[in-house]
Amino acid sequence: MRVLVTGGYGFLGAWIARDLLDRGHTPVLFDLAANPRRLEMVLTAQEIAALPFAQGDVADSERVLAASREQAVGGIIHLAGLQVPTCRAKPLDGARVNVLGTLAVLEAARQLPDPRPRVVLASSAAVFGPPSDYPVGPLADAVRLRPGTHYGWFKICNEGNARVYGLDHKLETVALRPWTVYGPGRDVGMTSEPTRAVKCLALGRPYKISYGGLQDFQFVADVARVFVQCLTGAYHGPEAYNLRGAVATIQEFHEALCRVEPAARSLISVGESQLPIAPDLDDSLLQSHYGPLQPTSLEEGLRRTLGMFREQLAAGTLDTADLG
Ligand SMILES: NC(=O)c1ccc[n+]([C@@H]2O[C@H](COP(=O)([O-])OP(=O)(O)OC[C@H]3O[C@@H](n4cnc5c(N)ncnc54)[C@H](O)[C@@H]3O)[C@@H](O)[C@H]2O)c1
Repeated sequence: MRVLVTGGYGFLGAWIARDLLDRGHTPVLFDLAANPRRLEMVLTAQEIAALPFAQGDVADSERVLAASREQAVGGIIHLAGLQVPTCRAKPLDGARVNVLGTLAVLEAARQLPDPRPRVVLASSAAVFGPPSDYPVGPLADAVRLRPGTHYGWFKICNEGNARVYGLDHKLETVALRPWTVYGPGRDVGMTSEPTRAVKCLALGRPYKISYGGLQDFQFVADVARVFVQCLTGAYHGPEAYNLRGAVATIQEFHEALCRVEPAARSLISVGESQLPIAPDLDDSLLQSHYGPLQPTSLEEGLRRTLGMFREQLAAGTLDTADLG
């Protein structure tokens, strides 16, 4: 199947392209501009050269529709979006790209001929409010959502709009809520600090993760797998699903990193404050509809991330622009 991947040159886009190719599908990358630096981490030069690219702004529904028609796509994975800090600083830009952009993708999909493509879209665990708003224990997908960021409210709006396209137009839609996704290529956004810490470790440089507390660490290859499985698996209606990886404190993350590379004990340190997003989410609905989806252990995910950064360092391709 040919799959339109909006935001395809981003972090998740690169790993989803890898997963799609591994399963015999053709990713068609849709993005503002072609920038293959993240793709180069997971695809060969030959694979990158062969990838179809459609340039455009995701908020331009006509452009998304034209690209989907020209490329004869059978599925859409919608990732294009602005992250928490940009939505906080520029909420109007955030709403245009994240909310109108998602509506533009849904509207384009609705206008395509049958069989219309299923749309799997990136929501976020940021739809949840702070842990103090909830009881202890894994939280189901449908508990009250009360985020403290524009980004979180935009994602709730997207989940709602995807559901309405499912109900009104019988468009197949699935929304997924990743938490801290980590791995090579993660270099922007509020929860990119754990990946930066691993990159600094590869460089032998000190780094302090500015926050602490409990969160859910999800290895990027697992998250890519979930997106592709939700695109190709038997459909279960317009749902929004929690994901679950390794729920751990930042101290436990640090301990796992020390087991992978003992130098982390002196080089990497962590903060105290809990991020204001409920960290303990129940993914049993996702598992029952699209599973089994087995997460990589934190230690194994960190070992693979560090190994890839070290390979890039040895090859002279390690991008350190995100380290300041
Ligand atoms: N990475 C995480 O931990 C995480 C967690 C939860 C949710 N998400 C969501 O997953 C999605 C992908 O995240 P990511 O980490 O790959 O982000 P990223 O910032 O690495 O990639 C986003 C991509 O979208 C593109 N883009 C931005 N505005 C666009 C526009 N107007 N038109 C077309 N393309 C545009 C960018 O050029 C970039 O290539 C986002 O929607 C994000 O909110 C990510």
